[in-house]
Amino acid sequence: MSVLSIHHDRGCEPDDLQPRYPVSGKVQASVIPHPLPSLNAHEVHLWTLTPDTRDIAEYTSLLSPAELERARRFRFPSLFERFVSDHGRLRLLLGSYLQADPRAVEYTENAQGKPRLSLPDCRLRFNLSHTRGVTVIAACLDAEIGVDVEVLRAVEDRDAIAEMYFSRPENEALKREPEEERDAAFLRCWTRKEAYIKARGEGLSLPLDQFAVTLSGKDRAALTYCAWDELEPQRWRMEHLQPMPGYIGALAIEHGPWTILHYMWPSAPNPM
Ligand SMILES: CC(C)(COP(=O)(O)OP(=O)(O)OC[C@H]1O[C@@H](n2cnc3c(N)ncnc32)[C@H](O)[C@@H]1OP(=O)(O)O)[C@@H](O)C(=O)NCCC(=O)NCCS
Repeated sequence: MSVLSIHHDRGCEPDDLQPRYPVSGKVQASVIPHPLPSLNAHEVHLWTLTPDTRDIAEYTSLLSPAELERARRFRFPSLFERFVSDHGRLRLLLGSYLQADPRAVEYTENAQGKPRLSLPDCRLRFNLSHTRGVTVIAACLDAEIGVDVEVLRAVEDRDAIAEMYFSRPENEALKREPEEERDAAFLRCWTRKEAYIKARGEGLSLPLDQFAVTLSGKDRAALTYCAWDELEPQRWRMEHLQPMPGYIGALAIEHGPWTILHYMWPSAPNPM
């Protein structure tokens, strides 16, 4: 199914909680934020998911056997629940954007594990990142996209990690930051690098010290340098994210006239 078939008219009455796509079997309407937005060209939808165990049974019922097997490998119930509620909600979102049954959504992975929709010629792209207490899902049409989120915190071994993984311009910029700013600067750098490698989908096969991003709170998020291709910085847009107070994140997306819309789940979609 092509994402061209997305419906743009989603007007609903307040008590109309029916899912707007065909479902085989029953999906509890209560788990679906109302109304789900449609994804238009040049929009990026950024979903901030907070833990939602109320609807865990419904989310579990949406997962594929392979996802259930992955979920069951988690020893701690909280990690099982996070995986199930993240991947159940991811299926609901993708199913809604595609106007398809969320259980019928199928993924494929590249060699480094980046999941994609397995529909031929599918325009819908997505990426997911989770950290303690928050998961972020980014979705758009026709562009590679990557997202990363971290808890804003004091980072143990911060300078040693930076020496090991960051590029020279990044290490120099980090040392210029006042000490009280350095943990946040480190995490801005980390999440921007991670969002970029996730957008490209090549994981840690990309040499982390061979490209540079901004990290100062005074600078816009950006890819500034790439040793293997000087045109890379022109190809990618980066955005600093604060999905919730106490969290820090980044989005990387191929350049375009994007409008970025933020939504929370649970709670009604609410552009920030
Ligand atoms: C796997 C990797 C893509 C992200 O790992 P991470 O930061 O631990 O995890 P995140 O929560 O941000 O992302 C995980 C999600 O990304 C997606 N993902 C998996 N492999 C991916 C890839 N190669 N590219 C993009 N997305 C990927 C999946 O949806 C995954 O979710 P799931 O595990 O629930 O299925 C990879 O970049 C990695 O191993 N990073 C290690 C961290 C690191 O050294 N970063 C250096 C920054 S300087």
